Amino acid sequence: MSDTLLELKDMHVHYGAIHAIHGISLKIKKGEIVTILGPNGAGKTTCLHAISGLIPISNGSINFKGEDITSTPAHTIVSKGIAQSPEGRMVFADMTIKENLEMGAYLRKDDKINDDYDYVFSLFPRLKERINQPAGTLSGGEQQMLAISRAYMANPELLLLDEPSLGIAPILVQDIFKAIVEINQKGTTVLLVEQNAFAALKIAHTGFVLTTGEITMQGPAKELLNNDEIRKAYLGEH
Ligand SMILES: Nc1ncnc2c1ncn2[C@@H]1O[C@H](COP(=O)(O)OP(=O)(O)OP(=O)(O)O)[C@@H](O)[C@H]1O
Ligand SMILES: [Mg+2]
Repeated sequence: MSDTLLELKDMHVHYGAIHAIHGISLKIKKGEIVTILGPNGAGKTTCLHAISGLIPISNGSINFKGEDITSTPAHTIVSKGIAQSPEGRMVFADMTIKENLEMGAYLRKDDKINDDYDYVFSLFPRLKERINQPAGTLSGGEQQMLAISRAYMANPELLLLDEPSLGIAPILVQDIFKAIVEINQKGTTVLLVEQNAFAALKIAHTGFVLTTGEITMQGPAKELLNNDEIRKAYLGEH
């Protein structure tokens, strides 16, 4: 059996006249952490939204576990095993932490849900301490923990994370990246979109660089971390 979990083939996305994604092809292997790096406006979020079925693609295909999911609606994609933690966190501010997590688990019918609440609380004890608090009262970093946990509660095989380090104190970024590694080691494949190239490449197996809607570089994360062009463009070296 193929070890490819997700495959994008020549994927294009348009927003009206704007051609945001210009034919992306990539494969994600089961068990990997894959990162997509790139500057503002490169099309990173657009890629994740296309995979999640939140926006239609204009050409190409998306295949998950050998099945064509190109035109599958978003809620069906969640039940097939893909969940996204969105850019800017987007927690339900007036709902408690517990209620936000319940929303994540909404489509599940299995009997492992309680184990997964325990698991996310073990990853992020701060969430357990604040379980009945409205999510809007959490700090930015805590809201990010909640957004990741809410996506995890959908029990995905592929977890999509859109800029989990954005606007978060470095100390919490460390906690969050440690948790991403743990989630991956427990068996979830991760697609991590980041502008923090250094943090992302340190934990990823494979990396892709997206520039104005095209993949301009790809390879094992360790190689990209040592690549001169990457070091200049993303790691602040001259
Ligand atoms: N709803 C939309 N309507 C029109 N254009 C859009 C829309 N969303 C995104 N775009 C455009 O598509 C391109 C890719 O945007 P996208 O948000 O995917 O980039 P990104 O890499 O996630 O950027 P950032 O790092 O700032 O989050 C940009 O040129 C953006 O202006
Ligand atoms: Mg984005």
